[in-house]
Amino acid sequence: MRLSPDQRTKLDETNDAFFYESPRFVTHVDDGFIQQLTDLYQARLQPNTRILDLMSSWVSHLPDEMAFTHVEGHGLNAEELARNPRLNHYFVQNLNQEPKLPLPDQSFDAVLNTVSVQYIQYPEAIFSEIHRVLKPGGVAIISFSNRMFYQKAIQAWREGSEADRVKLVEGYFASVPGFTRPEVIARQAQVPGIMQLLGMGGGDPFYAVIAERDKGQG
Ligand SMILES: C[S@@+](CC[C@H](N)C(=O)[O-])C[C@H]1O[C@@H](n2cnc3c(N)ncnc32)[C@H](O)[C@@H]1O
Repeated sequence: MRLSPDQRTKLDETNDAFFYESPRFVTHVDDGFIQQLTDLYQARLQPNTRILDLMSSWVSHLPDEMAFTHVEGHGLNAEELARNPRLNHYFVQNLNQEPKLPLPDQSFDAVLNTVSVQYIQYPEAIFSEIHRVLKPGGVAIISFSNRMFYQKAIQAWREGSEADRVKLVEGYFASVPGFTRPEVIARQAQVPGIMQLLGMGGGDPFYAVIAERDKGQG
């Protein structure tokens, strides 16, 4: 799968660096989403391994009780990344201008991308880089909800349903030879029965698309 030029467009086509110039010390999803993500990391990540948090900010959502050998952070705002307590090192790079990561081949056990995949205009190139930096058997966990900075999300994301977005991310993995078939976790927010009866909405839906770099590849 390759996106068409139109599908890559953003309503705000100015340099993403301008949009992220000022730090945002907020969380972009609700506590229910974050808890599900932290639980997923607890289940899927191994302690004392090397983690890359791609498109990170001042929070990484990693389980507090889990220690890692190295957590590399990446994002667009240095002030946010400097405040992130889990990062051992970080770098700032606009992935829509320079997709090549300044990281060695096969150097990470896991690559994480949280509520940010909708901003990537060249996902085929970025997922190829994710594959390159993962060790064989290493895991990529792409999580997202239904919130976004609308003007900065690509057209393919904006115009799709939530189910379409899951398919899009599955397609990003499929565009790179050497990933396992992605596993999908899709959960609507848990809403107490009384709130459902009152027609009150729940929290943020939780989606994760997970694939591993094939073990066979040396
Ligand atoms: C909604 S925030 C999510 C931050 C973090 N992953 C979290 O869970 O809170 C989106 C992040 O994507 C990053 N980002 C957006 N456009 C980018 C681009 N063109 N290149 C690199 N990073 C980008 C920004 O730095 C921002 O921190």
